[in-house]
Amino acid sequence: MTTETAEPATGLPADTDAAGATELPADIGGFGAAVTAAYSDALAAVYDDVYPATPDLADIGEFLLTLTPKGASVLELGVGTGRVAIPLADQGFRVHGVESSEGMLARLAEKDPEGRITPVRGDFAGLDLGRTFDVVLAPFNVLCCAMAVDEQIALMHAIARHTAADGAVVVETFDPSDYHVRKSNEVTTYPVGDRGVMIESVGVLPASQNMMLHNTLFLDGDAPRSATTVMRYLWPSELDLLAAIAGLELTARYAGWREQPFDGGDSRKMCVSVFRPLT
Ligand SMILES: C[S@@+](CC[C@H](N)C(=O)[O-])C[C@H]1O[C@@H](n2cnc3c(N)ncnc32)[C@H](O)[C@@H]1O
Repeated sequence: MTTETAEPATGLPADTDAAGATELPADIGGFGAAVTAAYSDALAAVYDDVYPATPDLADIGEFLLTLTPKGASVLELGVGTGRVAIPLADQGFRVHGVESSEGMLARLAEKDPEGRITPVRGDFAGLDLGRTFDVVLAPFNVLCCAMAVDEQIALMHAIARHTAADGAVVVETFDPSDYHVRKSNEVTTYPVGDRGVMIESVGVLPASQNMMLHNTLFLDGDAPRSATTVMRYLWPSELDLLAAIAGLELTARYAGWREQPFDGGDSRKMCVSVFRPLT
């Protein structure tokens, strides 16, 4: 396991807000601001109901333990409500979580009163914490939240900057082949516990590889609320190219956290990739 570089106790810049999250100076603008607002205003309140345990979250920690010893430092990009990070802390990892949405961080603070996760509020694309981690983790399609090629390249450089020389980068994406040829919006209904439903409509712009997600919440006693997010999907081969640009090389790829073979036959289309810094 790598030793962390000599940084202040937290390894983070100053400026800690009331919720305990360190604020990064970078501004979030454009679509990034829209995504952040969507998570803050609407999705934060229902996120854990809509995505309770997809995938089996303990599997992620078990997977990381094949790459790094127990107690390793992990930087999670887009930590959200801590859905992934809290089980990782339960498994002994020391987790920092970067997140742009105040609403998501507020949920994380409620769920992690002991402060086992170190929250960092800001835009992950320009991130520079001045230290490295044993693992940089980008789960649940978070790389696709960078919605343009230049943002995805910047994000990959940020990932490389924070990876220890003998560390690992773990990225979960999906095979977008089905989405890419879709001609009409796909509409899915998600139950929100016993509080109501969320309807999600996904449209695709194949030329820019953008997915436009419109979510509307119908919760008991509340007026309907909507949120729009934009993502940019990418093929595994494209991910490898982005990684190479940032000085990282692919060392393994699976169709899930249990090391299922990546042969394109997985119905969930999951793609779990492991990269290491080029020596
Ligand atoms: C798909 S969710 C995943 C949350 C968490 N990793 C999980 O699996 O439950 C993506 C998260 O990334 C955050 N996010 C999106 N764009 C971001 C950005 N540019 N910088 C930091 N966080 C961002 C969103 O607010 C959201 O919480």
